Amino acid sequence: MDPSLAVEITGLRKVFGTFVAVDGLDLRIKKGEIYGLLGPNGAGKTTTIRMICGLMAPTSGEILVWGYRMPMERDALIRITGYMAQKFSLYEDLTVKENLEFYGRLYGIPRKELAERVSELLSFLTLEEFSGRLAGRLSGGMKQRLALGVALIHRPRLLILDEPTAGVDPPIRRMFWEYLRGLNKESVTILVTTHYMDEAENCDRIALVNRGRVVAEGTPRDLKRRVFGGDLVEVTVRGRGDPASALSFCRVIDRQVAGEGGPDCALGSAVKLRVLAQDAPREIPAMISALERAGFTVLSASPTYVTLEDVFISVVEGAGRVA
Ligand SMILES: Nc1ncnc2c1ncn2[C@@H]1O[C@H](COP(=O)(O)OP(=O)(O)OP(=O)(O)O)[C@@H](O)[C@H]1O
Ligand SMILES: [Mg+2]
Repeated sequence: MDPSLAVEITGLRKVFGTFVAVDGLDLRIKKGEIYGLLGPNGAGKTTTIRMICGLMAPTSGEILVWGYRMPMERDALIRITGYMAQKFSLYEDLTVKENLEFYGRLYGIPRKELAERVSELLSFLTLEEFSGRLAGRLSGGMKQRLALGVALIHRPRLLILDEPTAGVDPPIRRMFWEYLRGLNKESVTILVTTHYMDEAENCDRIALVNRGRVVAEGTPRDLKRRVFGGDLVEVTVRGRGDPASALSFCRVIDRQVAGEGGPDCALGSAVKLRVLAQDAPREIPAMISALERAGFTVLSASPTYVTLEDVFISVVEGAGRVA
């Protein structure tokens, strides 16, 4: 057991009947970090999180959370972790304030301390003016904030959030991440799942999960470099035939038609390629001349920013190639 780790998972498997939902997953989350689990629908994120919370027993493998073995020592964890499930699971017929108070009492927080904590959270989550509103009547973004408040009521050291911002508007998602960064500054460790690549950029480290396995892991920056192993160049060309065949010395990541040929349509449509280069400034001139030699007109060629979305697509499409 490593005391600097909040979560330590080794060889985790979960089998439903004959279906393997989690397939030998390893994970090390350090205390104090914001750690993201990213993966497509059905990748096994929620199943993994439920096992981390001790809500479901693994088929095999080992899970230590804050040094406690899950699910056997789950009771010890209740005060340490706050969990926000993927589905809204609060009492819709209680008000915002009543939900917070109800969960606070479940944790046995004394009355006076609870009153203080509730008003602190209402203010932190800018929910004061809605404190008397029934939870069932809140907008999606407010429900998510209330669910976060409930998960935080007992001041957990480890906050586990399963797609906290799914279906919420971008401005609210940004605000939500400001809360998370604020909590993290106060040394709350955060484990979060998301589908949104831009959100994953807020994490200190990320694991890309596909088919129940971690297929890539690292800081957002590491991951971008490691997966592509170089720079990405965007090249737009016009001409007949497949421009990728003129670039056999590079790796073409994808290509798309960038518009109709217009008055020049006899020359074919414009095609935008994304090409991997070891060193973009040095290789762009060679790409241009190879394309021109093959009869293409190069409309533009420039280095481009690699997004986590690119990493994700590359890893998931090449499933399991990147370890
Ligand atoms: N109780 C269960 N019984 C049978 N199959 C299950 C059960 N729970 C999950 N699964 C299956 O396990 C796989 C992983 O599901 P899980 O909910 O963990 O994925 P996820 O990564 O959270 O997906 P999403 O992004 O859609 O939330 C899915 O194929 C799901 O249908
Ligand atoms: Mg899920």
